[in-house]
Amino acid sequence: MKDPFEKVNGKGIEILKKNGINVSCGILENECRDLNKFFIKYVTKKLPYVTLKIAQSIDGKIALNNFESKYITGEASRKAVHSLRSEYDAVLIGKNTALKDNPSLTVRDIKGRDPIRLVIDRKNTLPAILNLFTDSNHDKTFVITGKSTAESKANKYLIRMSDDSKEFRIKDILKLLYKFKLNSILVEGGSKLFSQIIKEGLFDEIYFFIAPVIIGKGISPFDSIEINSLKEKEVLLKEGITIFENDILIKYRKCLQE
Ligand SMILES: NC(=O)c1ccc[n+]([C@@H]2O[C@H](COP(=O)([O-])OP(=O)(O)OC[C@H]3O[C@@H](n4cnc5c(N)ncnc54)[C@H](OP(=O)(O)O)[C@@H]3O)[C@@H](O)[C@H]2O)c1
Repeated sequence: MKDPFEKVNGKGIEILKKNGINVSCGILENECRDLNKFFIKYVTKKLPYVTLKIAQSIDGKIALNNFESKYITGEASRKAVHSLRSEYDAVLIGKNTALKDNPSLTVRDIKGRDPIRLVIDRKNTLPAILNLFTDSNHDKTFVITGKSTAESKANKYLIRMSDDSKEFRIKDILKLLYKFKLNSILVEGGSKLFSQIIKEGLFDEIYFFIAPVIIGKGISPFDSIEINSLKEKEVLLKEGITIFENDILIKYRKCLQE
């Protein structure tokens, strides 16, 4: 495929051709695009690539009503998640997930690079005892917070938005992350954050890890979305299915209307 980066965009091909080298373009183009998907989004849209990762029961729940969610999916799925994390520059979660799950968001079950950990906490009130702030990777945790939020002892690194609004626009967060040269973000919940990203249309892929367990009443991944007509439903494009022991991973892509 042709490199879409404006400083390159065909110039290398021209140089090769001028020097008598045969160049063919578009061979296995879709595979090339998939391989370079983070880079393509980063240079063409000037935004990071965003994948939502959801671990849910067969009846579509990501946690019980009492917020318990560890662990809905099995060991093989969790290993696959660690592998996925290692491919992304950063993992992003909402404040409630940090509080309720106290996750580590590291790559432990396989050998691989730990991503940067981002948590949205507009008032910077998360407790200092959380794994995100105390484990050996605490230097990789950044709190996305308001313009004038006070610093806290919990964390060293704050990413400040340009305002103190109650709900930051996801697009503004992504623009900031782009400026920090983060080209791929794996969003790991929870329901409020997933819902906002869908509502703002700012995801590229969604990975549903589905376990054969029935939870009944509980929290679903998009509880904060409410539509009044099926015409407004979010339609996804299936990319593929992988089996992890008893669990199924279904990968979906955003249905592009452009
Ligand atoms: N199975 C899974 O895949 C999975 C994954 C993750 C979490 N979970 C479960 O999901 C539950 C938590 O989900 P949740 O929906 O309650 O919470 P959440 O999405 O983790 O966090 C929501 C909170 O984060 C802050 N926040 C998020 N986006 C923001 C924005 N754009 N601007 C400003 N603040 C923002 C807000 O905090 P303030 O309102 O306090 O400012 C908001 O109330 C837990 O039970 C957890 O176990 C399950």
